[in-house]
Amino acid sequence: MYEGLLKKYQDYLPITENTPQLALAEGNTPLIPLKKLSKELGIELYGKYEGLNPTGSFKDRGMVMAVAKAVEEGAKAIICASTGNTSAAAAAYATRAGIKAYVVIPDGKIALGKLAQAIAYGADIISIPGNFDEALKAVRDIAETESVALVNSVNPYRLEGQKTAAFEICEQLEKAPDVLAIPVGNAGNISAYWKGFKEWRTKKGTDLPRMHGFEAEGAAAIVQGKPIDHPETVATAIRIGNPASWILAENARDESKGYIDSVTDEEILNAYRKVASQEGIFVEPGSAASLAGVIQHVKNGRIKPGETVVTVFTGNGLKDPDTAINQTTIKINKMSDLEDMRRHLREGVAAL
Ligand code: F0G
Repeated sequence: MYEGLLKKYQDYLPITENTPQLALAEGNTPLIPLKKLSKELGIELYGKYEGLNPTGSFKDRGMVMAVAKAVEEGAKAIICASTGNTSAAAAAYATRAGIKAYVVIPDGKIALGKLAQAIAYGADIISIPGNFDEALKAVRDIAETESVALVNSVNPYRLEGQKTAAFEICEQLEKAPDVLAIPVGNAGNISAYWKGFKEWRTKKGTDLPRMHGFEAEGAAAIVQGKPIDHPETVATAIRIGNPASWILAENARDESKGYIDSVTDEEILNAYRKVASQEGIFVEPGSAASLAGVIQHVKNGRIKPGETVVTVFTGNGLKDPDTAINQTTIKINKMSDLEDMRRHLREGVAAL
């Protein structure tokens, strides 16, 4: 039986005999061939569907490791700043480990499903008037003086856990892809993947992909080369103006001969609708930034015809029902009469 990451990849992770075997069967997510999009784009495209992790995002990979180490080191509480997914994962794993989670979120700028998760798992939720960057600064300060373990991705155990997604991709494809496309917010995940691909190469002899990271245009600090004071994007997960792992992300880009570029909200929403309506995969807007980037890079030649590309779908679409409902032209057909339904169906089926 698959139990979780810490067990599966124990030889590749900082695990000692004192590390608790914390697990919610995280990781082991599918790599789904995107057949229609592959054909349309002229590449071999796969989606790494991280939205199928236990709390619905890739954060579970890093959080299981960070919380296990916090417990090993005697912590009774953890704290994080979050645009939503980190807080959901922190709350779940803290509960699992029997410790307390404090989560600090930007007021009003977190998707409803993520907030619901933090509430359900029983976190202590603190909302601040500022954005993610300000929340992160606050928790970093607090963790200096109070007895809580900081579990944002500035905690190196987070990246250790998250690098396992790169291992899985190499195992699933039986090689490394030519290109790994990934959304960039606080820039931890792109850094973790790059670490993972490099370690897998050392251990298993696989090649290295080019890393293509994508920020939202209204929050594109790395692309613009300066922090953004007031980041804005429909993709609230990556609404971040001063990424903590900025340097690591630039290293991943440069060492891999890749790119960090930006995608507009329009490109994000187009990709968001496309992958759901054409491939049957529902991702959250922040996750669609990677596919938006793939489409952009096929157009401008940064991805070449026939290349094998993995796009990381970092979070589940169910996390953000408001965007799903507000960003569609599809209307709900209200009918109480069976005859109306029959007529509606016949017209529809006849047109197929
Ligand atoms: N995709 C999703 C769905 C995310 O939630 C995040 C980050 C990212 C991509 C970007 O990853 O920060 O490692 O570059 N979410 C964080 C949070 C910031 O608080 O949940 P990154």
